[in-house]
Amino acid sequence: MSLLETQSLTKSYQMGQVTVTALDGVDFSVERGEFVAIMGPSGSGKSTLLHLLGGLDSPSSGEVYLNGESLSMLGDDAITRLRRRKVGFIFQFYNLLPTLSAAENVGLPLLIDGQTMSRHRQRIEELMSLVGLGDRTDHRPDQLSGGQQQRVAIARAFVNQPEIVLADEPTGNLDSRSGTAILELLRRTCRELGATIIMVTHDPRAASYADRVVFLKDGQIVHRLENGGEGISVQRIAEVMTALEL
Ligand SMILES: Nc1ncnc2c1ncn2[C@@H]1O[C@H](COP(=O)(O)OP(=O)(O)OP(=O)(O)O)[C@@H](O)[C@H]1O
Ligand SMILES: [Mg+2]
Repeated sequence: MSLLETQSLTKSYQMGQVTVTALDGVDFSVERGEFVAIMGPSGSGKSTLLHLLGGLDSPSSGEVYLNGESLSMLGDDAITRLRRRKVGFIFQFYNLLPTLSAAENVGLPLLIDGQTMSRHRQRIEELMSLVGLGDRTDHRPDQLSGGQQQRVAIARAFVNQPEIVLADEPTGNLDSRSGTAILELLRRTCRELGATIIMVTHDPRAASYADRVVFLKDGQIVHRLENGGEGISVQRIAEVMTALEL
């Protein structure tokens, strides 16, 4: 059974007289340990898909299954618990709390889940080292560079040992060198911690780090690229984007 699976996943928004269909019958599955990229033009439904996969929002129709369990069968409390314990989120704009230190930001999901940071100090320190910030634990976000803040957000996403990490344009705001460092970090983390990562990106170079790329257009999956073992080249991704007019 796949770790994550969707069936005819659809999300529409009613805007006065107009119905906006953000996601239109998406069938998609992710295996444990995979690193999957989701690409597509602005407005194609990428963030919507990520939010539904993480239980941040609920579909208009269709289903999301996590470990074979349908999210729609769970109540709000169960979804909240699942989100806190099994899913890590990395957003484009880091979403760090400005008054907390880097280490406290990393430990925040534990606090929110009713656990104490002191019990998990070692894991927090290990994660800070993994993202190359072992010597920045006491810095506040405004004392860190953008790339460092994004690395704090990555460490935070892994602190609750999630089964799945959902990343929305994790390198969108970074220069290419910091972006590359983040992508290599995600790739390595996926391997070393056995995590499953689903990453939304506009950038063919970022997507080339994934095992698989899924292309969305107008809320539908219009193409899939698989890694044949030799990696997915930037050029192949760019060719698909041109062919599909993405
Ligand atoms: N809360 C909302 N209410 C109404 N329409 C929405 C809402 N959220 C998203 N949409 C619409 O759904 C479509 C998909 O939005 P979504 O944010 O998933 O796109 P995206 O692929 O992530 O785009 P971008 O690359 O610009 O982030 C868009 O047309 C958007 O206007
Ligand atoms: Mg988006």
